[in-house]
Amino acid sequence: MSWKTKPSSTMQIPRRAEPYVSPAVAERWEREIVSKYHVRKGALMPILHELQHEHRCIPYQAMVEVARFLGISPAEVLDCATFYEEFSLEPRGRCTIGICQSIACEACDHKPLMDHCRRTLGIEPGETTADGAFTLLAMECLGSCDTAPVALFNETLHEKLDVPTVDRLIAQARQAPAAGHHH
Ligand code: FES
Repeated sequence: MSWKTKPSSTMQIPRRAEPYVSPAVAERWEREIVSKYHVRKGALMPILHELQHEHRCIPYQAMVEVARFLGISPAEVLDCATFYEEFSLEPRGRCTIGICQSIACEACDHKPLMDHCRRTLGIEPGETTADGAFTLLAMECLGSCDTAPVALFNETLHEKLDVPTVDRLIAQARQAPAAGHHH
């Protein structure tokens, strides 16, 4: 198996010998995901969701393998992986804090929350702490404007947030064991 990169490109694409889409994974995806959609391509989002959850990013090699699995081009997979904030090409921290910065949350004082995270974690939105513990993101409307300000800690939405609560959630996340992910 091989694929070509532009000779002009200096980018290193990390590869591993073990495929992301192993025969066992392909078989499970066929059964649990692809079978639910009229077209194979429909399975792209849930598959990317699973990869992001498991690896905290979408590895390039996985994108190529997923494209082959779904019978679409790697560019289509890349488009999807770069369009949605849920997905990242760089590994994210064990806890991703996504603070809503859209209009309702802005009006409800999201700024102290963001400033507190920036200070406490020592990173700017879009960055990950050196120890790999936290990624901080500024999110578009999370669909919970009536309980603004809100933020996601990984996949859990927290509403009507204030600084002490954010502080407590950060402390909790620090203590959480590095969670393994099992299927
Ligand atoms: S603006 Fe923050 S949830 Fe809608």
